[in-house]
Amino acid sequence: MSQNTIKVKAQNLSFFYGDNQALFDINLSVEANTVMALIGPSGCGKSTFLRCINRMNDIIPYTKIEGELTIDGESIYHTRYDVTQLRRRVGMVFQKSNPFPKSIFDNIAYGLKINGIKDRYTIERIVEDSLKRTALWDEVKDRLNDSAMSLSGGQQQRLCIARTIAVQPEIILMDEPASALDPISTQKIEELIQDLKKQYTIIIVTHNMQQAARVSDYTAFFYMGKLIEVNKTEVMFTKPEKQMTENYITGKFG
Ligand SMILES: Nc1ncnc2c1ncn2[C@@H]1O[C@H](COP(=O)(O)OP(=O)(O)OP(=O)(O)O)[C@@H](O)[C@H]1O
Ligand SMILES: [Mg+2]
Repeated sequence: MSQNTIKVKAQNLSFFYGDNQALFDINLSVEANTVMALIGPSGCGKSTFLRCINRMNDIIPYTKIEGELTIDGESIYHTRYDVTQLRRRVGMVFQKSNPFPKSIFDNIAYGLKINGIKDRYTIERIVEDSLKRTALWDEVKDRLNDSAMSLSGGQQQRLCIARTIAVQPEIILMDEPASALDPISTQKIEELIQDLKKQYTIIIVTHNMQQAARVSDYTAFFYMGKLIEVNKTEVMFTKPEKQMTENYITGKFG
């Protein structure tokens, strides 16, 4: 796949919670195998936008979406689009780690079994591989049958990422995945993101400007439901085009 393939594209996307409009006419394209950071003050619509991409907003009553959202050029809100298939293609990692109350091994094996993988050897191999990629293997290889709840917060978050990548999605959405973690765990997750983008397209919400600058290729700045600016990250943090972006990233508001 070439670097310039557009993976996710929002066109004139608007989103409403009842009468409250949370997103206004968003036009944003995310290239395959890149990391896009979404930044902006609390309540500006970052999580709402993220949840449009895996149709998680569908389960919230009295909501409405307008405009177009495509993945690989296919409209994911088309009536014939298979939502189960979508959830398989789009993985999500949340701010609060949410492992299943099962063993470390089963947290990863569960999704594989749901996807129809039955062969014990294959499952073991994927579990090991996913844990290695999230730099968790050495820490847990002797306690795979222990409850996931016995892991530290940072380990649980890496387990959730391992669980997400085990089923090989194409896109990974991350909503402030490191905001509850200590600096070492955060660094591990940032390194992991750099590694994962070779294979996946990643969209990450973060309140940490340094983190956005470190991990992303592109950055999108949202303000009050509008996309103010999207730019290459290095440009965004050195010479943003909009005054409002500069004010935000230099800490003048937010
Ligand atoms: N489930 C919901 N029901 C009604 N309104 C909602 C819901 N979720 C979000 N909103 C509203 O939509 C707007 C955007 O919220 P959203 O959670 O997307 O912001 P955010 O940028 O992710 O903020 P934060 O940085 O605090 O996580 C806000 O005005 C919020 O109150
Ligand atoms: Mg949010």
